[in-house]
Amino acid sequence: MQSVPTLQIPNALRQRFEAAQSVLVLTGAGVSAESGVPTFRDGGKATLWKGLPFDLISSAQMVQRDLPAVWEWFDFRRALLRDLQPNAAHNAIAHWQERFPQFTLVTQNVDGLHQRAGSREVIELHGNIWRARCISCNAIFAIPEEGNRPDECLACGDPLRPDVVLFGEMLPSGAFESAILRASTCELCFIIGTSALVYPAASLPEIAKAQGAFLCEVNPERTPLSGLCDIVLTGKAAEVLGLFDENSLL
Ligand code: OAD
Repeated sequence: MQSVPTLQIPNALRQRFEAAQSVLVLTGAGVSAESGVPTFRDGGKATLWKGLPFDLISSAQMVQRDLPAVWEWFDFRRALLRDLQPNAAHNAIAHWQERFPQFTLVTQNVDGLHQRAGSREVIELHGNIWRARCISCNAIFAIPEEGNRPDECLACGDPLRPDVVLFGEMLPSGAFESAILRASTCELCFIIGTSALVYPAASLPEIAKAQGAFLCEVNPERTPLSGLCDIVLTGKAAEVLGLFDENSLL
């Protein structure tokens, strides 16, 4: 494994990047850090909301116990996100979808910044904070950036809940299965801004590697996946992915 602390794109990666037909990118909270979204393990997880710990207010249990409080918390989080902008990393990844015949973006983030940067068909393993879902019939509703969110299901009239994966819940059906399929056929896999501690998301690069993909991690810190990677670009996502632009590799 080659670890590259300086801001340059190693030739081995450049060659793979230029030749690749099928690319998969897995992102985590770190990709949004330079947009001002706190990562989980660097503060976000320690947040208290009205005295309730993050993993309780964001839990399946709280949806049962006090759905209005869950909404209040998610309304607060959306209000913080409203003014934040995608950064150079989101933008670079959005450009990559035009560059490769097969391109898959899998994200653990719920902030919607990839889509705001122009990414399409994003596999969202943990849902999206800008959507609501009916607790009974699972109908999905977009939440507008401005104005009121819908508070009951237009199909059946039952209450809505945030369409995100809460602590104690399974991943949305189909999302991980699609991600596995793409991971098992990609030639080049980027792992960007994730601590790689949460499974099954962290298994995607392992699947890609087992099928012969070249793995490149972008993170200021090492993760449990670093040793599996062919190249680790040590640095912040926006700075490192900005290099692809400077090197005409968008
Ligand atoms: P974490 O908060 O666990 O990890 C963030 C990672 O981003 C760390 O490895 C940091 O070193 C890295 N990082 C920080 N700043 C960065 C930057 N500017 N550029 C690149 N990387 C940077 O976030 P996730 O790995 O996304 O699940 O966490 C995975 C899941 O854990 C989340 O989706 C969430 C949580 O439980 C759910 O909410 C279901």
